[in-house]
Amino acid sequence: MTGTDAEIMPLLVEFYGGGDPILDCTFGMGRFWAHEKPKNLVTLDITTRADIVGTYDRLPFKDQVIGTIVFDPPHMRVSSGRVYLMYQPPTKAPDFTLFLGEAKRILRIGGVVIAKMADELMVRPWNHVKFITGAEEVGLEPFDLIVRSRHLSIRNTAHPQYRARRKHCFYVILKKKK
Ligand SMILES: C[S@@+](CC[C@H](N)C(=O)[O-])C[C@H]1O[C@@H](n2cnc3c(N)ncnc32)[C@H](O)[C@@H]1O
Repeated sequence: MTGTDAEIMPLLVEFYGGGDPILDCTFGMGRFWAHEKPKNLVTLDITTRADIVGTYDRLPFKDQVIGTIVFDPPHMRVSSGRVYLMYQPPTKAPDFTLFLGEAKRILRIGGVVIAKMADELMVRPWNHVKFITGAEEVGLEPFDLIVRSRHLSIRNTAHPQYRARRKHCFYVILKKKK
């Protein structure tokens, strides 16, 4: 698949989504919704642009109330000057365990997580693998995996990091079946 976030995410929500409400829990600058904002969208982020300022590690929702969760976590540990892309704290490897537990808790049966995952080339396990393994551990079913490709070099010349995400990223679809 090719395209921008704003082109792809609404299509994925329409095709795979588990219904309303839709929670974008890493809203950032809201790029997924630049063309089309769903009616029942609730946004959360550690930054103040979102409806709810909070962390995806502890989602402020009751059990089984959300239909679709959109997740686009930070994916860098080396500063690019774009703080919002960095793990918190920045040198820490990403840990999706708490998020996945929370996602399982707040999703209704039949609910879906649509996650954009970007890998660092040299760091294993790759984020998308870690995310899928973690999902299985909490009982969310990996349902589909989509690759988005781009025509860019893997090497980021400005910073000492080789990032597969420059060339491609993944959209991982998880389902809560029970
Ligand atoms: C890759 S960016 C997301 C970009 C977003 N999809 C957009 O359209 O701008 C990662 C986002 O995760 C947010 N973030 C980082 N740690 C977080 C946390 N623990 N809980 C919620 N949001 C977090 C950052 O503030 C940032 O907006």
